[in-house]
Amino acid sequence: MDKQIWFDTNRKSWDERVAIHRRDETKFYDVEKVLAGKDKLNAIEASEIGDVSGLRIAHLQCHFGLDSICLARRGASVTGLDFSPAAIAEARALARQLDVDAQFVEGNVYDARKLITGDFDMVYVTWGAINWLPDIAQWAKVVASLLKRGGRLYLAESHPNILPFDWVDGRVGPKFDWRTPREAPIVDEVETTYTGANDVLANKKTYSWQHPLSDIINGLIRAGMALNWLHEHPALTWPLFPNMTVSEDGLYRLPADHVQLPLAFSLEARKM
Ligand SMILES: C[S@@+](CC[C@H](N)C(=O)[O-])C[C@H]1O[C@@H](n2cnc3c(N)ncnc32)[C@H](O)[C@@H]1O
Repeated sequence: MDKQIWFDTNRKSWDERVAIHRRDETKFYDVEKVLAGKDKLNAIEASEIGDVSGLRIAHLQCHFGLDSICLARRGASVTGLDFSPAAIAEARALARQLDVDAQFVEGNVYDARKLITGDFDMVYVTWGAINWLPDIAQWAKVVASLLKRGGRLYLAESHPNILPFDWVDGRVGPKFDWRTPREAPIVDEVETTYTGANDVLANKKTYSWQHPLSDIINGLIRAGMALNWLHEHPALTWPLFPNMTVSEDGLYRLPADHVQLPLAFSLEARKM
């Protein structure tokens, strides 16, 4: 299948979701908080990214820019990139309204090096980004190409060990292969977006890929990066399964009497 069909189909879905997410009727995105001048980074990345003030950050798959704005408020100079024109338009409008040092570029992640000038101190990628990408090794090369020597990638994502599972017959059960072949993506048809909003989507179809941890890490190593650290978390920033409940830190966990599973991972890698 022509990979442009994957990207075009996904982009239509994201374009449609932007307005729903920006309205934020379910408060999933904490838009009001950001408009009120507050920070909305989740507990995981907030405790791991360190001091970003003075850093040049490339925020890949920035959606409509909320995290980019938070990073800029922490003193970074941020360039966000996303392939959804609707997301980029909304991100630019918000950054203008809130007067923060964040620029936004429309384009595919795989074209990022052509589209963004300069070398970055940090590439920032979080929550629901790499599963939209067919080729994780190529993604790692793009990340490395954006960094200056010694610059670092911060990546926080759902754990590849949990993504093969879904809610099956009222419990967490296996549903997908642990590694999705590039040429045979997972095809989803969804009625609504993941924020809990009731709006029925016209663009229901998406293509996605599960990438094992070893593919992610080996991709980074082959792209000339070295791992600083790798963390695994029994918590996630959204309720992947209906039995997960939110804790005081804003993260979602499996019930205490459920078998505990790794729900998220985060890593920092530096360009050698
Ligand atoms: C779940 S959102 C990521 C949200 C992110 N955590 C943030 O900072 O708000 C996924 C984003 O990836 C973007 N996206 C998906 N595939 C892409 C691609 N190939 N190139 C660029 N952006 C892409 C979508 O448009 C969407 O905005």
